[in-house]
Amino acid sequence: MSAVVTEQETVREGAFGNAVALSCRECGGRVELGPSYACPDCFGPLEVAYDFPAITREDIAAGPANIWRYKALLPVPADIEESPNTEPGFTRLLEAKNLAAELGLARLWVKDDSTNPTNSFKDRVVACALSAARELHAKVFACPSTGNLANAVAAAGARAGIRTVVLIPSNLEQPKQVNSAIFTDSLVAVEGNYDDVNKLAQEIAAEEEGWAFVNVNVRPFYAEGSKTLGYEIAEQLGWRLPDQIVIPVASGSQLTKVHKAFQELVKLGLVEEKPYRIFGAQAEGCGPVATAYKAGVDAIRPVKPDTIAKSLAIGNPADGIYVLDITRSTGGAVEQVTDDEIRAGIVLLARTEGVFTETAGGTTTAVLKKLVETGQLDTSLETVIINTGHGLKTLDAVSGQVGPRATIAASYDAFEAAGLA
Ligand SMILES: Cc1ncc(COP(=O)(O)O)c(C=O)c1O
Ligand SMILES: [Zn+2]
Repeated sequence: MSAVVTEQETVREGAFGNAVALSCRECGGRVELGPSYACPDCFGPLEVAYDFPAITREDIAAGPANIWRYKALLPVPADIEESPNTEPGFTRLLEAKNLAAELGLARLWVKDDSTNPTNSFKDRVVACALSAARELHAKVFACPSTGNLANAVAAAGARAGIRTVVLIPSNLEQPKQVNSAIFTDSLVAVEGNYDDVNKLAQEIAAEEEGWAFVNVNVRPFYAEGSKTLGYEIAEQLGWRLPDQIVIPVASGSQLTKVHKAFQELVKLGLVEEKPYRIFGAQAEGCGPVATAYKAGVDAIRPVKPDTIAKSLAIGNPADGIYVLDITRSTGGAVEQVTDDEIRAGIVLLARTEGVFTETAGGTTTAVLKKLVETGQLDTSLETVIINTGHGLKTLDAVSGQVGPRATIAASYDAFEAAGLA
């Protein structure tokens, strides 16, 4: 693993806020806060552990309308707002009455993260990773990505004035390539799928000094950013937890962190404890977690992705086993849908709620529909789905489904003749 911090430099007091250590998810062993991601004893994944002070809803409400309102619950310094970042978060929670009526749900909300600075939830995780990279004196801010992460890293690095290097699979959607290349001159298209790109990133991280790979060697800090989705949903519901939530799964990090956020809010006394069910959404063309869920097994067999949901195309998901744990223990499920269902999901959300989602959101919407139709979701309870990214980045997925109803001459007669009057 790379030594992000060089010998001459030290990490300042309070660099990681109320975080106290990195702890192993498998054996509970602790290591010092720093650029580590695997337990030295058992190689289990490390996550950030905290010693939280007492905190009130009023303290949080007094903060800015972005993720830093929860800075006391994140591994960031108290003066985080003084450093340029992309200031993501506090996106709208829309009550989706039309979609609820269409599917027969009592109440439904869409947490719309497509309105973040680079139009996906990845701005949240990248903001936290950037803070860690800065505090660890990283010289380069980098990532392997299925697309949205690349956009977020490139933009945040540009605003922070730090060099970025972004690795993507070479077959990525063109809009996602442009949305990275506009911010960085070091977008690298790698021949292979995401799992190949990820392997290359691990090699580079091991070779190079001073590189912070957001989802490799600073992954524990990065992953904490997804907790803010859980905090915001609870706060925007009036400081309460939803009954059911449907979350798309690629590596599985987001789903596990929304669960962690809900548990922290209960522990801190910010919301009342209640049962809630977490559901995961995958594409059939890359559904290793859904397949393991269905088979009732604990081990996840990696797959070679083949789906239009490229942002979810991780064949060997790092947090897959924790997704299985959480969905099973909360009474949820992991479901998967076909590419045609994903396209229909994108159109359904657009036509009912005026929200244009990318293929990941199409997967989530289609899985919501399937969960209702198969009786896995309780329609009498309150449900939230997360729209994690914007449809303008995956136009090709639906450009064959929708388009002009008619092409007519510029006259009223032609309009009438086309049956539109
Ligand atoms: C739009 C979108 N939604 C969901 C995900 C899944 O996130 P995770 O890897 O945390 O499961 C990704 C990951 O790249 C994504 O780009
Ligand atoms: Zn361990």
